[in-house]
Order: sequence, then C-alpha cells, then structure tokens
Amino acid sequence: MAETTHDTLIAWLQEAHAFAQHGETMLGGRAEALSSDYPVLSNRLNEHVAETRQHRREIAQLLDDLGADTSTAKDIGGKLSALGHSWGTQLSGETPVQAVAASIAFEHFEIANYRALIAVADIAEAGQVKATLESLVADDVAMSQWLDDTLIDITRRYVGA
Ligand SMILES: [Fe+2]
Repeated sequence: MAETTHDTLIAWLQEAHAFAQHGETMLGGRAEALSSDYPVLSNRLNEHVAETRQHRREIAQLLDDLGADTSTAKDIGGKLSALGHSWGTQLSGETPVQAVAASIAFEHFEIANYRALIAVADIAEAGQVKATLESLVADDVAMSQWLDDTLIDITRRYVGA
C-alpha cells in the first residue's frame, strides 16, 4: 500500500522528535565543554537545550494527538552521520569555532526539516500540527541567527585577536 500523506506526516514527526533528542544531547555537551572559557556562548546553548526539550515535548504531544508514538525511525543515525561527524555529541578536540559552525549547520538542518514538515502538514490539512511547527521553527531561526552573529567574535577570541 502506498504511503499516505498522513503516514509521511507521522514518520517525519517521529524523525523530528529524534533530531530534537539528538540536539539536546549535542548542544548540552557543547555547553558543558565551553562553560568555563566561553560562558555567554555556553549559556545560550543551554537556553536552546531547554527550548529544544520543549520542542520535543510538543512534537510528542502532536504524535499522541495523531494516535502515534515517538518511536524513532531506524535510519535516524544514518541520516545524521551522512551529514558529517560533527553531528555527534561534543567531540574531543572540537574548537569553540568548530562548535559554533557545527551548531549553525545543525540549526539549519532542523529549520529545513521543520519547513518540509510544515508543507506536509499543510497538504494533510493538519492545522494544529502546522501551527505548532511554525512556532517551534522560530526558536531555531533565532538560535541560528544568534550563532551567526557570534561566530566572528568567537573566532577572534579563539585566535587571540
Ligand atoms: Fe535547534
């Protein structure tokens, strides 16, 4: 049987839930590693960990409302690793600049996935899902913008300028 738009919506919400879970772990690891030397960056990362945790809960609620659970797609690890090793949790030897660059990449990955999901929700006429995702993606856009704005400062500091 062909996959329906509704099936796709559920599968992608489950993926988004897993990506959020991964994001919490990854950003939390980076926040901890950077806490003593880059406290402002660390605090903002921790703030986004809390936002991401809230996103995950809201996605779980959407899935529950749709009669589905949060069991994750099998290939989630593959999708993340296909995007590069920086998708892992804090890597030993990762510089603060690499941490910011990899975090920017992850936020853009989340934003693209949410936008695709919003389009599917629109096609599936799932108004509540669409409205919730539109509010979630705003936090990722803000985080991405903040990281973009801080990249040069962090880089200058890292090289002692
Ligand atoms: Fe995010």
